[in-house]
Amino acid sequence: MKTIFSGIQPSGIITLGNYLGAMKHFVPLQDEYNCYYCIVDQHAITVPQDPATLRENVRRLAALYLAVGLDPEKVTLFIQSEVPAHAKLGWIMLCTAYVGELERMTQYKDKSKDRGESIPAGLLAYPPLMAADILLYGTDYVPVGEDQKQHIELTRDLAERFNNRYGEIFTIPEIRVAEVGARIMSLQDGTKKMSKSDPNQGSYISMLDDADTVAKKIKRAQTDSDNAVRFDREKKPAISNLMTIYSLCSGKSLEEIEEMYAGKGYGVFKSELAEVVIETLKPIQERYNDLFQSQKLDDILTAGAEKANRAANAMLHKVESAMGMTRL
Ligand code: AQP
Repeated sequence: MKTIFSGIQPSGIITLGNYLGAMKHFVPLQDEYNCYYCIVDQHAITVPQDPATLRENVRRLAALYLAVGLDPEKVTLFIQSEVPAHAKLGWIMLCTAYVGELERMTQYKDKSKDRGESIPAGLLAYPPLMAADILLYGTDYVPVGEDQKQHIELTRDLAERFNNRYGEIFTIPEIRVAEVGARIMSLQDGTKKMSKSDPNQGSYISMLDDADTVAKKIKRAQTDSDNAVRFDREKKPAISNLMTIYSLCSGKSLEEIEEMYAGKGYGVFKSELAEVVIETLKPIQERYNDLFQSQKLDDILTAGAEKANRAANAMLHKVESAMGMTRL
């Protein structure tokens, strides 16, 4: 079986963008691949986090991973900081990377702008840690949203650089981006991606938003100037984004949606989109509520950490031996 690794940061509550761009695709993969799904709390702390909120968000994310349909019998679900090999290989990958290539990362540029002298060093070191996450498990494929493409390319470069120096230790991973939904945009700005840490809560739909909140957020979502429900990413980014969400949640094609709402305008479309999203979230939220406070969730995370530690320590040992970091 080929191996899959993917991580999500507990830097807020998972959004519909995280779900449609990444999590939803994890479910069918569990039957075909050896899957490692990770709650990357060490990535979340690259910007300051409130301790109580972080603890809660880790648990929420773990419950959501399972609520969307991942089966702990088939996948390894674990928390990054419970597997110390990530931090150790992260350091080695940081030492393999060049400052220039890290400074060129778009996410680093976006997240560090307007921070003046106080750019957390962790933001720059984030991609080598992500490379370590992936390489520790001999990963073949990384299913992520489009925003992570550049980081995966860097992971491949670092793995090749390391292999050239020390021998064929790492598998070179490939990215897997969904064809549709790889980039769900903000509800308030069709040119910016939907993000869980966006301070404007109206810009995203959280997977835990109740029906009223979803309806309100969609009603207030930005639209384009004419009143036609027509897909055109360039000229009508806001409505095209809402149509993508509709399509992914309902299974209807964009053409079908255009036909259904021809001549009906944005008002009718938005209220029916709200229904479609609410129906998508409902069963996930029900399963989530059963899991969130359960002992079962802790047991799954404990078993996941044990399994991940075994695999990660074996790889770390190979790496450190190749580098001369083990005693004779
Ligand atoms: N808007 C999006 N559309 C499609 N996919 C998305 N992903 C994130 N946003 C979108 C995918 O979700 C996975 C988890 O992402 P992450 O938590 O590791 O980090 P991120 O990409 O930085 O996500 P956020 O929500 O924007 O987090 P913050 O606000 O903390 O930076 C990844 O596979 C990502 O591609």
